[in-house]
Amino acid sequence: MIDFKYLANKYQTPLYVYDFNHFENQYNELKKAFKARKSIIAYAVKANSNLSVIKKFASLGSGADCVSIGEVKRALLAGVDKYKIIFSGVGKRDDEIKEALIKDILLLNLESEAEMKRVEAIAKELGKKARISIRVNPDIDPKTHPYISTGLSENKFGVDVEVAKGMYIYAKKSEYLDPVGIHFHIGSQLTELEPIKEASEKVANLVRSLKAINVDIKFFDVGGGLGIRYKDEETIKPYDYAQAILSTLSGLDVTIICEPGRFLVGNGGYFLTRVLYEKENKGKRFVIVDGAMNDLIRPSLYNAYHKIEVLNDNQEISKATIVGPICESGDFFGKDVELPKTNPGDLIVIYSAGAYGFTMASNYNSRLRVAEVAVENKEDRLIRRRETFADLIKCEIDYLV
Ligand code: LLP
Repeated sequence: MIDFKYLANKYQTPLYVYDFNHFENQYNELKKAFKARKSIIAYAVKANSNLSVIKKFASLGSGADCVSIGEVKRALLAGVDKYKIIFSGVGKRDDEIKEALIKDILLLNLESEAEMKRVEAIAKELGKKARISIRVNPDIDPKTHPYISTGLSENKFGVDVEVAKGMYIYAKKSEYLDPVGIHFHIGSQLTELEPIKEASEKVANLVRSLKAINVDIKFFDVGGGLGIRYKDEETIKPYDYAQAILSTLSGLDVTIICEPGRFLVGNGGYFLTRVLYEKENKGKRFVIVDGAMNDLIRPSLYNAYHKIEVLNDNQEISKATIVGPICESGDFFGKDVELPKTNPGDLIVIYSAGAYGFTMASNYNSRLRVAEVAVENKEDRLIRRRETFADLIKCEIDYLV
């Protein structure tokens, strides 16, 4: 058990706390599920890009799935093997493409024909052959929140199967492109197996037809998306997930790449915040805390559920809406939650905050981004210090005339 009160006293609130042992267990469970094949677990850095978190996964042998050159650089700095780094994203700039090629990472994952031509031109300039994969949009409904659904043709991601085929044929003939991978990612927080299996089947069939025309795909990248339990969701077991994918790959000699983010870090993260005040507006109870939507935006943005617990012994329980100090009605962590009566200073734990928590934080309302702490083998350590006012203004102050 993590001693939240001790950590809140030591590091102050608001605060993110990460259980590195949980991260490790999740990684090992997924890696084991794929043991029948060669596999690379490429941690989706966007879920939690703290350098120490990436370093932890790198130490376990993880690769990195990146969506900007900034993430690629973080991964390299944290010690991820460059041949386990994939760079995806619908809108890569020339400078990002160039740097990724110079850094010689495993794959640039392409999302359009236009982008392929840019990568080819830049590789030519550099006198290099770019290792690429192509993101296929399998047009399958992942049955998740529309904002985090990505594998339907109405979404902006990837290209359809026919376009992908044409791109592979073009790339195969190019002196500067080496089409060695294929990719799909249908969405995030997936809790049903069938859409994943269907997508994998569709993409595996494309790999077979490519083989027939001498395009030899070596990396089969199934994206991320494995869901976690926030409340009472039935989640997919890693073993079943791996089996569903493996069952579609018979006869294909490919290395599987899998890009989990939330599954690895989501439930190992906690957001700690303290009560400032309580108040009632016409009978509606509000608990006002020192954390806010700028620190953890998932409830405001997706109406996402996060379990909220007050660490006090009060038996007097009633419904409350937990809000932060930001000047927006959307600034809440939970609405009408059964919560004990609180006193100023009481500690509140918000669960499942390890993924898309800190990475989506901002300085809105000129609030300072909070500190992050790792707990590993019962020891705690700071992995990002709290920002200061000087940090907040550092990119502006020199221009104040
Ligand atoms: N690979 C690709 C290409 C992705 O776009 C994503 C997530 C992942 C892997 C990792 O997905 P995961 O295993 O974490 O589900 N901010 C939203 C989630 C956005 C996910 C974006 N892409 C949230 O807080 O729910």
